[in-house]
Amino acid sequence: MPTLHWVGKNKVVNHHHEVPFRLLDKQYSFTANKGTPANSTNNKIIHGDNLEALKSLLPEFEGKVNCIYIDPPYNTGNEGWVYNDNVNDPKIKKWLGQVVGKEGEDLSRHDKWLCMMYPRLKLLHRLLADEGSMWISIDDAAVTLLRPVMDEIFGAGKLIASNVWQKRYSRENREAIGDVHEYILVYSKTPAAFKLSRNKIPIDEKQAKVYRNPNNDPKGRWRPIPMTAQAGHATADQFYEIISPSGKKFKPSEGRCWGISEATFKTLLSEGRIYFGKKGNSQPNIIRYLSEVEGVVPWTWWPHEEVGNTDEATKDLMAIFGGASGFDTTPKPVRLIERVLQICSQRNSLILDSFGGSGTTAHAVLKLNAQDGGNRRFILCEMMDYAETITAERIRRVIDGYGEGNKVVAGTGGGFDFFKVGEALFKEDKNLNEEVGAEAIRGYVAYTENIPTEKRWDTENAVSPYALGSTDTALCVFYYEKDRVTTLDIDFLGQLKIKNLPSRPEQFVIYADKCALDKDFLYKHGITFKRIPRDITRF
Ligand SMILES: C[S@@+](CC[C@H](N)C(=O)[O-])C[C@H]1O[C@@H](n2cnc3c(N)ncnc32)[C@H](O)[C@@H]1O
Repeated sequence: MPTLHWVGKNKVVNHHHEVPFRLLDKQYSFTANKGTPANSTNNKIIHGDNLEALKSLLPEFEGKVNCIYIDPPYNTGNEGWVYNDNVNDPKIKKWLGQVVGKEGEDLSRHDKWLCMMYPRLKLLHRLLADEGSMWISIDDAAVTLLRPVMDEIFGAGKLIASNVWQKRYSRENREAIGDVHEYILVYSKTPAAFKLSRNKIPIDEKQAKVYRNPNNDPKGRWRPIPMTAQAGHATADQFYEIISPSGKKFKPSEGRCWGISEATFKTLLSEGRIYFGKKGNSQPNIIRYLSEVEGVVPWTWWPHEEVGNTDEATKDLMAIFGGASGFDTTPKPVRLIERVLQICSQRNSLILDSFGGSGTTAHAVLKLNAQDGGNRRFILCEMMDYAETITAERIRRVIDGYGEGNKVVAGTGGGFDFFKVGEALFKEDKNLNEEVGAEAIRGYVAYTENIPTEKRWDTENAVSPYALGSTDTALCVFYYEKDRVTTLDIDFLGQLKIKNLPSRPEQFVIYADKCALDKDFLYKHGITFKRIPRDITRF
């Protein structure tokens, strides 16, 4: 598989491992005013750089996010984004803090953009569930850079589709050929599993127009489906004679067969699902009711009539804020993200958008939940200070309802917790930052020892207040006290209430500041000693 190279790539391919692990610091919770349904809680808006925010999410959400949608800066030269990743390399250090502007002014713009995107995409890939999908909005220029990078991170053959969104409806006359589209790339770690779980798109009235009810059928609108097919792979029971109610006989013409066997035809006939025309003497058709139509298979052409355009997106936001919102980047229309989520989410999916902007993704999640009673959850990250004044404010308004007079939009209900990216777990000198508290440190160590979130123990467990939980093979113990040095010795082992476990673990992983037991003893009893903080894994 061809791969893309750019200046600085070798410095950032492992940068996500070097990003300090920080804790999410909860600022407040918001829930719907009384009277609105609250089926959409447990959501997060995180204020901070998504590189750090995504890393903070790993212990709880690695491999658990069902749908990722991102709309990063496209690197047009007009966004004026700042490259600020703290990559420890002299060449990259020169870029830090610089506004990434017009190509003519700064030829390294594309390298910086790729350096910015790569570690974030790596973390997003880790957060994505195996059968989940990742959707990325991108323009015509950056798609040529993004696709090889995504292919490299996901592996060959993981692109599901490159959807074309018609972003505007009026003609664009400034360029030689007017630019009216963007892409939405879709990737999955397991495209076959994605195909099985993805939803069809509900049909709209335009598509439903062919369903009529000329005979006042009590089961509602229906359409006739022709009954013949090409005879290429037909079996013997697809050639038979059909007699219509008027007595007219029908057989498939030369090279054709009936699309269904005679037995199926008879069943459908007895259920009144074969139509022979108004006078009962036309070629038979199968009746397909509108109420039974599951939807249509999504395709890569997304016209603005179906999913909105950039004008509509601006109007969406103005309606919510009752005028200008102050969001100076182009938002996406809610209908566009609704379409993404209609295809890829189930009612209880977890949805992540790490370039949150004005919060369109959260809006679409809440709207879909309100429509179908689902419990989809969202996590949004936004680094600018408007994370509170625009992103969170929009979501509060969507939850509680907005608009006046005949433009009132009912609240969706729900709630969210607002976080900022907080303190790092390790200090610059590599020691533990004890200010973050023992609970946070325990959670981190349990994650690095591969104890699944649901199997982690709290300090009240039956074995020891220091036990973290069990993996398939080992009991993990984190013997840590903020104010004293801990020593793994016979006394400490004697305090572990191993007999309270259903069976004796094969192995023990025990962290402490010091170890007073000799190697032979540790080996004989299957104990691995890990020194705090030296042996705590940095991921
Ligand atoms: C194109 S906008 C997204 C618009 C969004 N889809 C909407 O409909 O409102 C990109 C957003 O990503 C944010 N952003 C850029 N780099 C970021 C980073 N490193 N961490 C978090 N947010 C970032 C920008 O501040 C901007 O709000």
